[in-house]
Amino acid sequence: MANNENPPTTTNNEKLGVLLPGLGAVATTFIAGCHLARKGAGVPIGSLSQLGTMRVDGDDTPKKISELLPIAKLDQLEFAGWDVRADDAYAVAQNAGVLERHHLEAVKDELSAITPMSAAFFQKDIPRLEPTFTKTGNKADLVDQLRQDIRDAKSKMGVDRLVAVWCGSTERYVQASEVHQSIDAFEAGLKNDDENITGSMLYAWACLKEGVPYANGSPNLTVDTPAAIALANETRTPICGKDFKTGQTLIKTILAPGLKARMLGMEGWFSTNILGNRDGLVLDEPANFKTKEMSKLSVLEQILEPEAHPELYGDLSHLVRINYYPPRGDAKEGWDNIDLLGWMGYKMQLKVNFLCRDSILAAPVVLDLALFMDLCKQKGARGVQDGLSIYFKSPQDSANGIEHDLFKQSARLETLLRSFM
Ligand SMILES: NC(=O)c1ccc[n+]([C@@H]2O[C@H](COP(=O)([O-])OP(=O)(O)OC[C@H]3O[C@@H](n4cnc5c(N)ncnc54)[C@H](O)[C@@H]3O)[C@@H](O)[C@H]2O)c1
Repeated sequence: MANNENPPTTTNNEKLGVLLPGLGAVATTFIAGCHLARKGAGVPIGSLSQLGTMRVDGDDTPKKISELLPIAKLDQLEFAGWDVRADDAYAVAQNAGVLERHHLEAVKDELSAITPMSAAFFQKDIPRLEPTFTKTGNKADLVDQLRQDIRDAKSKMGVDRLVAVWCGSTERYVQASEVHQSIDAFEAGLKNDDENITGSMLYAWACLKEGVPYANGSPNLTVDTPAAIALANETRTPICGKDFKTGQTLIKTILAPGLKARMLGMEGWFSTNILGNRDGLVLDEPANFKTKEMSKLSVLEQILEPEAHPELYGDLSHLVRINYYPPRGDAKEGWDNIDLLGWMGYKMQLKVNFLCRDSILAAPVVLDLALFMDLCKQKGARGVQDGLSIYFKSPQDSANGIEHDLFKQSARLETLLRSFM
């Protein structure tokens, strides 16, 4: 945990506004689910903030995290977002086809009332999208407009605090360059329209300038740069990312530590999937897939430590494929083939076939990130929150190093939460 202090907690009946750049399938499934849970029409399954428990010293009975910590309640939440299209959240959710009609109708009024703010968007970042609702100006102007949007949204929603979770699309692959090295370099790059500054970075910069915690749900570089980390520390703002850990990578980071714990060897891990939502369409573009691929590939090496176990993992082939296949919509199907080695080097295979639902897995992650990031901010934490790495495929580096093993990430989260008690 980086740079955390513990000033008094301020949570009471204050309202929390959740800002969502990218009002697509994940964002609308998240908002709809919060409203359904409020009405008692659904259970927020998958959310640690709602269902998770911890034991406190001297008491054997586990207590709900939400009772132990001053986390905002679902009925204290309000929602706002940005998108490249002006459709309201109900229309978006209908098109996304994630939630069934009876669920959507139950929250139609609440979703219809959420209309996005216009986007800061560059076609080059995401060639497959067709924007119709965007801002104009140079990159510095766009940050100023987004900052004004943030203030306007705060007063329109009548909330006391804000938190942002990027639920926008995956952008083209961009590596940290000169412009990302310091606050000054980035500010100069904004004025010069530097091509290495993407749309998502503008939202993050605007949020950090306004002191709004920022979680990055996509694999975009965004707040994983020296400039953004410096600004987050300067404005005492928590950040975290990258890329929600939801489906195949979640399973991978559960299985791999278990296989390693028993010193079973591995020659290869091949992951492929089919999905047909808009995320899949965007990832069908090679430059955008590259961003996702880099994020997904990073996990195994850190968990298996091939340098310490060359006889088990020294020659591992790790391949990841994503296939855009429209008939499946959001109902992703993933296949993993793991080539294992046992006693005396005998070969075995393990096959995993996960018939999942992308946005159903992502929605509780958005909720937890919003609530825990808000808690971090209230408790004076700033900079990279590695206690939240359990939620990411490609967690940001920190003083404690990058951790992919889900069980170690779970321990980090518990340490973070306990530090706030
Ligand atoms: N669903 C999952 O399990 C999962 C897991 C990991 C990561 N993610 C990531 O979450 C993000 C959202 O996924 P989704 O399925 O909701 O995708 P989606 O395509 O349904 O929604 C993304 C939305 O972002 C909007 N957008 C793109 N650029 C924007 C910009 N500059 N400003 C404002 N809006 C912008 C798009 O118009 C779209 O409506 C993607 O980056 C995806 O890779 C999803």
